[in-house]
Amino acid sequence: MQQVFTKAMARNIFLGGAGFFLVIYLALTYDTWQRIPIRDHADRITPAVARGKYLFDTNDCMGCHTVNGEGAYFAPELGNVYKRRGPDFIKAWILSQPTGVAGRRQMPNFHFTNDQIDDLVAYMQWLSNIDTNNWPPNIQG
Ligand code: HEC
Repeated sequence: MQQVFTKAMARNIFLGGAGFFLVIYLALTYDTWQRIPIRDHADRITPAVARGKYLFDTNDCMGCHTVNGEGAYFAPELGNVYKRRGPDFIKAWILSQPTGVAGRRQMPNFHFTNDQIDDLVAYMQWLSNIDTNNWPPNIQG
């Protein structure tokens, strides 16, 4: 039996290992792409959801808030706020800012119309239905 570890053996281990993990990598990538539409339910992006996202982005809500853990940590998580608080609370909240309560961090008033607030709520409802594997672990972010 051969006792030395030859270059050919090293090459075969390298190529075999690289090929094996490439196959696993491609299979997992394919699996991820199959699952994304189920998890983010993009088919439920209505015009109201799209308008809400536009307002959300152009008013820089993520300058203070997080969405699914991404963003700024000044204010609570909004990816799950629809489930935590519900639509009526969110509407009343946005309309009544700033609270002016001493010692509490403040959110500005954006002077949205009722229709715009409905769109924002539609967007936050859509966000709340994304399957994030319960991320973030601290539900208020
Ligand atoms: C300048 C920072 C800032 C910006 C920008 C901001 N917020 Fe806030 N927001 C806050 C703070 C601070 C709180 C929590 C205040 C408190 O608890 O008293 C809050 C709370 C909220 C809540 C209630 C969250 C909860 O868990 O009860 C909602 C809903 C909300 N914001 C929506 C929005 C939306 C939508 C936008 C963008 C249009 C936005 N915020 C932009 C600072 C901000």
